[in-house]
Amino acid sequence: VWFMRQAGRSLPEYRAARGTGSILDAIADPELAAEITLQPVRRYGVDAAVLFSDIVVPVHAVGFGVDVEQGRGPVVAAPFRSPDDLRRLRPLEPATDVPYVTDAVRLVARELEGSDVALIGFAGAPFTVASYLVEGGPSRTFAKVKTLMHAEPLVWGDLVDRLAEMAAAFLRAQVRAGASVVQLFDSWAGCLSPAEYERFVLPSTCRVLDAVGELGVPTILFGVGTGELLALMGTSGAQVVGVDWRVPLDEARRRVGPGCAVQGNLDPGLCLGPFEVVAEGARDVLARAGSEPGHIFNLGHGVLPETDPGILS
Ligand code: CP3
Repeated sequence: VWFMRQAGRSLPEYRAARGTGSILDAIADPELAAEITLQPVRRYGVDAAVLFSDIVVPVHAVGFGVDVEQGRGPVVAAPFRSPDDLRRLRPLEPATDVPYVTDAVRLVARELEGSDVALIGFAGAPFTVASYLVEGGPSRTFAKVKTLMHAEPLVWGDLVDRLAEMAAAFLRAQVRAGASVVQLFDSWAGCLSPAEYERFVLPSTCRVLDAVGELGVPTILFGVGTGELLALMGTSGAQVVGVDWRVPLDEARRRVGPGCAVQGNLDPGLCLGPFEVVAEGARDVLARAGSEPGHIFNLGHGVLPETDPGILS
């Protein structure tokens, strides 16, 4: 069991430690990032800590010009518009570009030594990071990124290849520093048809998972609204596929296929309700997970900011 709080800042201790200013500055402070990473472990006794970082950290670090606006998400001052923009995505050198991330991982790993608590490192999957770079910020329609992949497949291929290399380098550095599991966030892949996903997104995703799998740590591939993509995600090489609340977990297991564990899938929206509603939802998830091994209990997405932190205890 663990919880992602990305979309949610429900913990008072998080808000107190975090202060104001850009989240990218907080992430660049290893002691602070380590402290924030450990807060949910202390409060809830969850089985895993998820590193306090963000999916846009690598592209920010190579100078693409990304910031994270509070209440909005990642925004790009000069979005990706032409093949010339590929030059703005040089390879990531973790030791010099993101030393603060590996320092934070080391601090957390040291704190967790001797316990059974896993440390989840993560990166954004090529499609989801590309969506921010091309759209310039959060999008409802993903019109620009879809236009690019269909109209300029070669440029698209180069873009996601570069992002895959960056994600792989970022994840390998986190594993070498002590992360025991990695999760690849393809949060917005659910906007794609299975054919689009298979042709334009799955190959670069597999490359990231392969590169990390070689290090022998379990890998989780996560997305939202991916009901129709679960079978393809099950072929990615990830050991675990994340599932949101739209597909019941027994059906999700069937779609993902044998040999792959599932993670999910309580609706974060249910967690705003009275405790009995939350408990009933959690019992349903567990019943549908069945007695087979290979289930990580999770919300279908992050804890919503307005959630009463006590309800998850
Ligand atoms: O506990 C955890 O979730 C670990 C930390 C974490 C953050 N971002 C910190 C964060 C993780 C795993 C992420 C990943 C991330 N970032 C994803 C994939 C996960 C998902 O939600 O699907 C995505 C899409 C992003 C991009 C991003 N960063 C968004 C959409 C937002 C929300 C903007 C808002 O304010 O509503 C952020 C900001 C962000 N990243 C916050 C946190 C704790 C909140 C803002 C802050 O504290 O300044």
